[in-house]
Amino acid sequence: MTRSNTPWRPLTTAKIDWTSDNSPHSCLFDDVYYSPENGLEESEYVYLQGSNIPQRWASHPHPSFCVAEAGFGTGLNFLLTWKMWKNQGKPRPHLHYISIEKHPLRLDDMRRALAGWPALNEYSAALLGAYPEPIPGQHRIVLEDGAVILDLWLQDIEQAIEDLASYGGDIVDAWYLDGFAPDRNPEMWTERLFGCMAIASRNNASFATFTAAGHVRRGLTRAGFQVSKSPGFGHKRENMYGRLTDKSAMPPRRRTITPWDLSGDTPPQPQAVVIIGAGVAGCTVAAALAKRDIRVHVVESGRVASAGSGNDQGVLYTRLSQKHSPLSDFSLQSFTFAHRFYQRLLSSGVLQQGVDGEICGSFHQSDNLEELAAMNLLLQSVPDLARVLSADQANELLGIRQLSGGYWYPHSGWMRPSSICHALLERPNIRVTENAGKVQLAKTDRGWAVKSENQVLDEADCVVIAAGTESGLIADLGWLPLQAIRGQTSTLATTEKFSELRAALCHRGYISPARQGNHCIGATFDLRDDDTNIRAVDHRRNLDTLASAVPDWQAALADIDEHQMKGRVGYRCASPDYLPLVGPVPDRTLFLQNYAALRKNARQIISSPGNFIPGLYLTTGHGSRGLTSTPLAAEILASIICNEPVPLSRELYRAISPARFIIRDLRRNKV
Ligand SMILES: Cc1cc2nc3c(=O)[nH]c(=O)nc-3n(C[C@H](O)[C@H](O)[C@H](O)COP(=O)(O)OP(=O)(O)OC[C@H]3O[C@@H](n4cnc5c(N)ncnc54)[C@H](O)[C@@H]3O)c2cc1C
Ligand SMILES: C[S@@+](CC[C@H](N)C(=O)[O-])C[C@H]1O[C@@H](n2cnc3c(N)ncnc32)[C@H](O)[C@@H]1O
Repeated sequence: MTRSNTPWRPLTTAKIDWTSDNSPHSCLFDDVYYSPENGLEESEYVYLQGSNIPQRWASHPHPSFCVAEAGFGTGLNFLLTWKMWKNQGKPRPHLHYISIEKHPLRLDDMRRALAGWPALNEYSAALLGAYPEPIPGQHRIVLEDGAVILDLWLQDIEQAIEDLASYGGDIVDAWYLDGFAPDRNPEMWTERLFGCMAIASRNNASFATFTAAGHVRRGLTRAGFQVSKSPGFGHKRENMYGRLTDKSAMPPRRRTITPWDLSGDTPPQPQAVVIIGAGVAGCTVAAALAKRDIRVHVVESGRVASAGSGNDQGVLYTRLSQKHSPLSDFSLQSFTFAHRFYQRLLSSGVLQQGVDGEICGSFHQSDNLEELAAMNLLLQSVPDLARVLSADQANELLGIRQLSGGYWYPHSGWMRPSSICHALLERPNIRVTENAGKVQLAKTDRGWAVKSENQVLDEADCVVIAAGTESGLIADLGWLPLQAIRGQTSTLATTEKFSELRAALCHRGYISPARQGNHCIGATFDLRDDDTNIRAVDHRRNLDTLASAVPDWQAALADIDEHQMKGRVGYRCASPDYLPLVGPVPDRTLFLQNYAALRKNARQIISSPGNFIPGLYLTTGHGSRGLTSTPLAAEILASIICNEPVPLSRELYRAISPARFIIRDLRRNKV
């Protein structure tokens, strides 16, 4: 299950031939994506009618209905399901659609294929606008203001289905099996797939498929599905559909990891949640929960975005690596999600271009020539993710002269964190209490009392702590290994020279195109420094660092009197492994008891699930990249709280779990 240390490379995209009637045909599998004569009607018949979808939506007992598909292809089944959802009257559950795909179509092939379905134009346009690059891993696409979620798992079915099943079940309501024909694409029709389907299914989950192949029928039956046949569409003889009647038919699986990250309990989706802290971490979670029709109360000790999230400009960073690691995988996954997230806010006018942020691209200097050469080859097929540029090529895009080669990220840019926070809190079901002082939590019979110094501000059965560097001061979380890192930014008034900069430049510091006449440049990075005063010497450090990155500006920057400069001091909240802490809060005492054996044998597999404090969740430790990591972190947390599938491999889910530090310390025999 672990991908760490394996080589990172973009996926091989689908190789398409176009038939005489302009239908896609796969060269890799020598098969058609759908019937050239009547693909749309056939998909509707086999999958939507075969799964009895509209009737089930009308009486679905959960807030969200989950379809999982093997083989996304052109997205036709997804678009049809989405359209049907839209046409279904309210009340209807939210639609969660997971689709697994190893060879995604290139965007131009997608566009050409979907142009063949004018009835789906409105939906195709939205999908094409959010369609990801062929980057391995999970891509969450949020549609219909969150009421429709598409999770694309771009990877081999075998890995993906194991990961999905490893979360322990009760996820999927309807399966669409749409690999190529079983004799041409046997990997999509394995016993292992059927077994994992049964594990990941909710009770009575359905399946539908175009094939009636005997071994598929037998495999599904063995996995516990009751299989029926129906007449095939058009000239085809038969297809299959059915329900999971016996979830226990599969023998229990041998555990390969200790499931310390999963809880044994599934509390119902809460109706109301209190969030402590109104920085980007808290505000993104507030919006993600509010979209799920949950009442949210954000309680902030000061003003919204007044601590770490108070800078005027920050850059959207990511991290590339030739090898998979939880750090680079999460960084990449959260970056592509953050780009879509901010792009949507900017293009819908919720945020104003140039004032609240700008996806203008960013260039990151690098002097690691060996890595640049290797990444240059790897990035050829994903130019919208990143490109390796020489200094001259970079200067063309930046509009200034600097001396280094490096990485160009066209989907990056700068954002103003406080604008994001304020915009996200503007929803009718979000209430904000500012200046509440240092809020504390007390356990009650019903859940939590949220207390300021002398009054109870609210009571809730679910609380999210998003208090940045101060998260460890709440609810006995002093054991969290969080570190506050001082950073000072400097406000640089723009000039004719500086305003030539057209995109963000990241060197040992960063500078973006000016916002309202000023560039916010930075930032210093000082551990164990609790001086909150602005220091002229730190402004000089910021100016000199910039000067060494852009020698043409040296004289102009040297002329600036740092004593007259304005700026800001903030604290980044960092974790020892540089990954954020996102997930349920562990009951440390019970963890130490239940997993004590790890002290003696770090590799031992212990079968008990983790014990978590009921109704208490955390999102913090976003370090120097909170603009990138918090939108995805918020989706993950909202999905956990609402019992929805998370858009993460299990490896990444564990890598960001706050409980990981207890397990790490037990394994090192340190606690
Ligand atoms: C100098 C500097 C430069 C940076 N540059 C970038 C950049 O270019 N790109 C980037 O992506 N990131 C950057 N970052 C990091 C980014 O700003 C942070 O990751 C992000 O702001 C963290 O958000 P947060 O919501 O977790 O924390 P915060 O914004 O600190 O929010 C936590 C909130 O909780 C409140 N709070 C704390 N305790 C309590 C309590 N007991 N009760 C009630 N409320 C409480 C605080 O008042 C605060 O408002 C930078 C950070 C700094 C300091
Ligand atoms: C028949 S097409 C799917 C058609 C699709 N549902 C649609 O609406 O266009 C089958 C898909 O399965 C994908 N596929 C084949 N082998 C795979 C594997 N091992 N893992 C994941 N996807 C695979 C193919 O790339 C292809 O896109």
